[in-house]
Amino acid sequence: TFFKPADLQLAGKKIVVTSGPTVEPIDPVRYIANRSSGKQGHAIAAALAQLGATVHLVSGPVSIPDPKGVSVIHVETAREMKAAVEKLLPADAAVMVAAVADWRSEGEASQKIKKQPGGEPPVLRMVENPDILAGIGHHAHRPRLVVGFAAETQDLLANARKKLEKKGADWIVANDVSPTSGVMGGDRNHVRIVSQSGVEEWPDMSKEDVAERLAGKIADAIRAVGQ
Ligand code: CTP
Ligand code: CA
Repeated sequence: TFFKPADLQLAGKKIVVTSGPTVEPIDPVRYIANRSSGKQGHAIAAALAQLGATVHLVSGPVSIPDPKGVSVIHVETAREMKAAVEKLLPADAAVMVAAVADWRSEGEASQKIKKQPGGEPPVLRMVENPDILAGIGHHAHRPRLVVGFAAETQDLLANARKKLEKKGADWIVANDVSPTSGVMGGDRNHVRIVSQSGVEEWPDMSKEDVAERLAGKIADAIRAVGQ
């Protein structure tokens, strides 16, 4: 037998977290990206590590520092993020917080695209990126707990339920990111946890508090399943 302090409820558990945006090159000097500060994903990684988990954070480019006690893999594109995440399986849980770019420009130009004097602006043809969360939710080595996020500007709960289903997630943390919410780039978050058993609304709180509470809920869920 070994002693497990009450505050290290996730000791011995391996958890993969994604955070930040992905950036998709158009040419060597330009890219398409999503808005994401990485604050919420990084705080979740840190909170899970605080509970003793071995945390692997796969992050797109952000301006905040790597969280302490977490092993960080830096990536740029959705395809790199997907490969990095899948390489980390098997894991006990996956928490996909990244704002993955849904599309990338087809065929990255190898040279800088130049303006043509008096010419038309270039037309970019977009192709869809792989869905990293759906890949994990339906993976042969699926973690026993898979958590996704849903950033919505309208129909929050209906959209979150669809994502739960389609992506094979256990929980979707749904947040309203309409411009008036102040969530994007801000320090606070107001989330609802959508699962098969219903919707849990959490009060407006700091991203750190959301992270702590979510880490606690993850610890409870993993313990409930046994081991
Ligand atoms: N996600 C992902 N890979 C993608 C797109 C999204 O892993 N290519 C993950 C996000 O990290 C998040 C969840 O899926 O956990 C939901 O992301 P969101 O952008 O809200 O959903 P989409 O399925 O992309 O739908 P849409 O953007 O059209 O609302
Ligand atoms: Ca999306």
